[in-house]
Amino acid sequence: MTDTTLRRYLTQSVLDPNLIFLIEDIASSCRVIANSVRNGAFEGNLGAAGATNVQGEAQKTLDILANDEFERICSNSPRLAALVSEEVEEVTWLKEPEAGDYLLYFDPLDGSSNLDVNLSVGSIFAVMQVEEDGDRNVLRNGRNQICAGYALYGPSTMFVLTVGDKVEGFTCQHGTGDFRLTHPDMMVPAETSEFAINASRYKYWDEPVRRYIDECIAGEDGVRARPFNMRWTASMVAEIHRILTRGGVFLYPADSNNRDAGGKLRLMYEANPMAMIIELAGGAASTGLTPIMDIDPTGPHQRVPVILGSRSEVERLVSYHKT
Ligand code: AHG
Ligand code: MN
Ligand code: MN
Ligand code: MN
Repeated sequence: MTDTTLRRYLTQSVLDPNLIFLIEDIASSCRVIANSVRNGAFEGNLGAAGATNVQGEAQKTLDILANDEFERICSNSPRLAALVSEEVEEVTWLKEPEAGDYLLYFDPLDGSSNLDVNLSVGSIFAVMQVEEDGDRNVLRNGRNQICAGYALYGPSTMFVLTVGDKVEGFTCQHGTGDFRLTHPDMMVPAETSEFAINASRYKYWDEPVRRYIDECIAGEDGVRARPFNMRWTASMVAEIHRILTRGGVFLYPADSNNRDAGGKLRLMYEANPMAMIIELAGGAASTGLTPIMDIDPTGPHQRVPVILGSRSEVERLVSYHKT
């Protein structure tokens, strides 16, 4: 399997060559960002940029740099019509949209608060297609995604991709820079005993989330048959990668301190791509009330509650939201 490079994997598929070019450009962006992340201290790229993004978050230098690399490299793709980025308020149109053109949604650097403490960060992306000539609607629900994935800049750099069937994990080979298929057909283990949530927000949670977490903590002393473990890395990419590898459930719910915003995570370039990956890997993704990919977006930076991971745990949380 490790003989299969990303290029070979893509060229052996039946994908439109223009989509292959785009996926290769995304992978190249991630390769460049991985280097910038690793060399941050030498190149003076750690720390704050002094600017604020549309979400009101202080941007890191590397947030902006990663956004610029995606923009610079992916603009080479001849059929890429528009970019929707966490770091850019408006949609960036690269050409007059024609039916079949591609739309790229991305979080250039996820978990960027981890940069200065040298912990894992990532990039997240999704691709949709323009339906008709001149159609500038980028606000379509996640079922329209034809491709989604993420890069994880951890001890090794990984590129995890789906083009609508399997979820395939590629590892960047140090030295050659090749992405090689090391984790084919990734599946979320069905049984899990691990949850991930920012527990400091407990006092803000709604009753269904409190009930679920209380029950996990009580473990075999309560209604659950086994003890549960907890992890929180503050990078969604790292959490999702762990869940794809050994199971678990991830929550960033709406709470009484972010309810007006709808939650913390952004639908178009965080929740939707991860929901597609997790569903195709046999898991589930919901707000607690609605499957994430069924949400009709209202804006490019819309935030939503996110619950995703092993199917049985997500279903349990959904059932608690109904009572
Ligand atoms: P980003 O760095 O792209 O703005 O995303 C950060 C997100 C997500 O990756 C993570 O799960 C969450 O914010 C962490 O939130 P807390 O600061 O509440 O831990
Ligand atoms: Mn951010
Ligand atoms: Mn993010
Ligand atoms: Mn980000």
